Amino acid sequence: MLSSVVFWGLIALIGTSRGLYPFTHSTSPHLPPRLYRGCYGDIMTMETLGTTCDINSLINCGIRGSETFAEMDLRAMKPYPTLIKEVGQRHCVDPAVIAAIISRESHGGSVLRDGWDRGGLKFGLMQLDKQIYHPVGTWDSKEHLLQAVGVLTDRIKAIQKKFSTWNVTQHLKDRPYFESGIEAIVTPADVDDDYVNDVLARA
Ligand SMILES: *[C@@H]1O[C@H](CO)[C@@H](O)[C@H](O)[C@H]1NC(C)=O
Repeated sequence: MLSSVVFWGLIALIGTSRGLYPFTHSTSPHLPPRLYRGCYGDIMTMETLGTTCDINSLINCGIRGSETFAEMDLRAMKPYPTLIKEVGQRHCVDPAVIAAIISRESHGGSVLRDGWDRGGLKFGLMQLDKQIYHPVGTWDSKEHLLQAVGVLTDRIKAIQKKFSTWNVTQHLKDRPYFESGIEAIVTPADVDDDYVNDVLARA
């Protein structure tokens, strides 16, 4: 799921401000620091299908399709690498996952109007639903992103607790991140859909 412009693009985007290109398999004596993966599993070991291939999208689908979509959002994501890394470290979440959700939800904020979606129901880079949460802060602020990622980790923890036998991939593959409670989730198939596969491939 890596080996693409997008992968390196996201790495560059969330790489450190010193301009390092962290790569864990290097044998160079100048080993860069290991890329921060947070507390919810190593996404590079997780299986994903990428975005769904159906009759309407035979070309832009699968892992390559997701990567292409993420790549298209890179420019809009440019203001946020530091913010995303800080918030990721605070909540112990892989910044690549946060970046991927931002890409999927709001294309780096580029499709939002004053932070709101077209229907005026979802707010911020990660598109918190105002019917469920009370969004705090401005749409691209640290305060708001901390809230949104906190919602994400609360959900992952709830799934971990409810389904203690599932593995890290299944715990992370929660769907859709901000729209409903976890009551409806019963089997791993319930958390394995286009949304999560697309997000993982983008990450
Ligand atoms: C988690 O379990 C699923 C279903 O059995 C499997 O396909 C996947 O490879 C597992 N992932 C990890 C990281 O163990």
